[in-house]
Amino acid sequence: MDKIIEFAHKLLKEKLKKTDVAIDMTLGNGYDSLFLAPLVEKVYAFDIQEQAIIQAKQTLKDVHNVIYIHQGHENVDKYVFQKVKGVIFNLGYLPKGSKQICTTAKTTLIALKKAIRLLDVGGICVLVFYPGHREGKIEAQEVGEYLKTLDQKEFDIIKYEFINQINMPPFLIALERLKP
Ligand SMILES: C[S@@+](CC[C@H](N)C(=O)[O-])C[C@H]1O[C@@H](n2cnc3c(N)ncnc32)[C@H](O)[C@@H]1O
Repeated sequence: MDKIIEFAHKLLKEKLKKTDVAIDMTLGNGYDSLFLAPLVEKVYAFDIQEQAIIQAKQTLKDVHNVIYIHQGHENVDKYVFQKVKGVIFNLGYLPKGSKQICTTAKTTLIALKKAIRLLDVGGICVLVFYPGHREGKIEAQEVGEYLKTLDQKEFDIIKYEFINQINMPPFLIALERLKP
């Protein structure tokens, strides 16, 4: 079976075309952008940490269609003014970085609502949650509750999780826009 990130990438790959635009809401070390970049025309990539941007530029040194935005993803509407077909939120903290600097329910919800407005019909938004740490657990609960309120006529929303793993493993929620 696909691991969580593999499944996230598979869902995005199925939908994305070379003329599409995608957003990486949490650039981190740049591996999700590295996956997305060859599939689309352009990737907008956000991170609040300079360390992440520097590391991602190294990961993406041969890639030329990633737009780096050293800003919180809650400001996505100030940087992206076009419809997008793919969005990824790989939440939590930078691997090997400070665990204090992580995504939070409050800002993730703001960013998600804005991302949903930017998402084109047929577009996919995937979120990978890490409920094994305190902030991640709150984030998973609050964002999960919000997603349950979205109209089923407008969005298909699925959850993918390994129900027999211990210690609150990561899980995925993906939504597809069905209507404008
Ligand atoms: C799990 S890492 C992302 C992994 C990354 N996508 C990769 O492929 O390596 C989460 C990242 O989210 C960033 N982050 C935290 N809060 C953020 C915010 N409000 N806006 C954008 N990025 C944020 C952290 O700095 C961290 O680098």
